Amino acid sequence: MKLIKLCAIGGDGIGPDVLESGLKVLKKLVPEIEIKFEIAGYGAYQKHGRSLPDHTLQTCRNSDVILFGAVTTPPLIKNYQSPIIRIRQELNLYANVRPFFSLPIKDTCRDIDLLIIRENTQGLYSGIEKKIDGGFSAERIITKKASERILSFAFSYAQKRRKKVTVIHKANILRLTDGLFLSLAKKMAKKYPQVECNDMLVDTCAFQLIKNPQSFDVIVTTNMFGDILSDEVAGLIGGLGVCASANIGPHNALFEPVHGSAPKYAGQDKVNPMAMLFAVCMMLDYLSLRQEADLLRKTTITAIKKGNVTYDLGGKYKTSEVVNYIMNNIK
Ligand code: NAI
Ligand code: MG
Repeated sequence: MKLIKLCAIGGDGIGPDVLESGLKVLKKLVPEIEIKFEIAGYGAYQKHGRSLPDHTLQTCRNSDVILFGAVTTPPLIKNYQSPIIRIRQELNLYANVRPFFSLPIKDTCRDIDLLIIRENTQGLYSGIEKKIDGGFSAERIITKKASERILSFAFSYAQKRRKKVTVIHKANILRLTDGLFLSLAKKMAKKYPQVECNDMLVDTCAFQLIKNPQSFDVIVTTNMFGDILSDEVAGLIGGLGVCASANIGPHNALFEPVHGSAPKYAGQDKVNPMAMLFAVCMMLDYLSLRQEADLLRKTTITAIKKGNVTYDLGGKYKTSEVVNYIMNNIK
């Protein structure tokens, strides 16, 4: 097997804690992997004046996969750039994929199995803001090329699943930008006659995700809508501690938990490592290491079933205890 090159970025807060958990399990499943550690985030900015040092970006470019913890992004520092947004743009990781499936967790929604796929490089996260009379404005960029690319990605993904795509937009108000996205989606749907396609306004979708989440298979949308809706679905299946995401580009891919750096829990051996472990599963799938992915997913779900979980899922176990349980049961 070709040696896999991995770039590991812990980041800030609980990022390094969950990264350590992910790497520990990964090394047991795939010992032949080359890992390079790099820095990014607010800590890197405080030390080196850059939230994403050039060296980090270069190692990301030269890696097959990147495993990313989480970063703190302080909102009020002028010209501060979120490193994760920049990595997504620089490496052209255009598809953000977040799977949500029901887990055996008390008081959570049953029978959910959906994917939120969002365009990951533009939209309202273009990073272009400017001063206007009396305040500022932000640019929401939607291009034909980027929309077609993500739509094609989503429709081909749906073909491998329950063959249903829901296009989320706000084309009744954002008539040019989302008007384009929606009309391209309708054209794309014609190329995939086996896939059922419908569309929904983003606010209606927010409601339907609570009312009838089981009716969704693949959701495809623009950058910020997908970001917000994915935290909503996380709330239905057990919280941010169990939700993972992939950022996929033409050359390589980055895997991370959906959650942020939760600074108040940093270094306490307290938070749930499972979002990171599910991110590792997605990475193994991407690397076509299906058996290893299935084994880790199955073992993590068994840990949940047996109550071997952290505080957020009602358990009494520490991060390291959950990881050790999973390590001992990967066979
Ligand atoms: P957050 O996701 O860091 O935390 C929100 C709450 O979720 C936490 O207080 C905690 O109760 C819970 N939580 C998160 N991860 C958990 C885990 N693994 N186990 C158990 N409970 C967990 O979001 P918040 O507080 O809004 O943002 C904190 C920082 O993270 C901000 O600076 C924000 O910009 C950044 N952020 C970074 C992201 C990334 O690196 N991709 C994504 C989202 C936020
Ligand atoms: Mg988010």
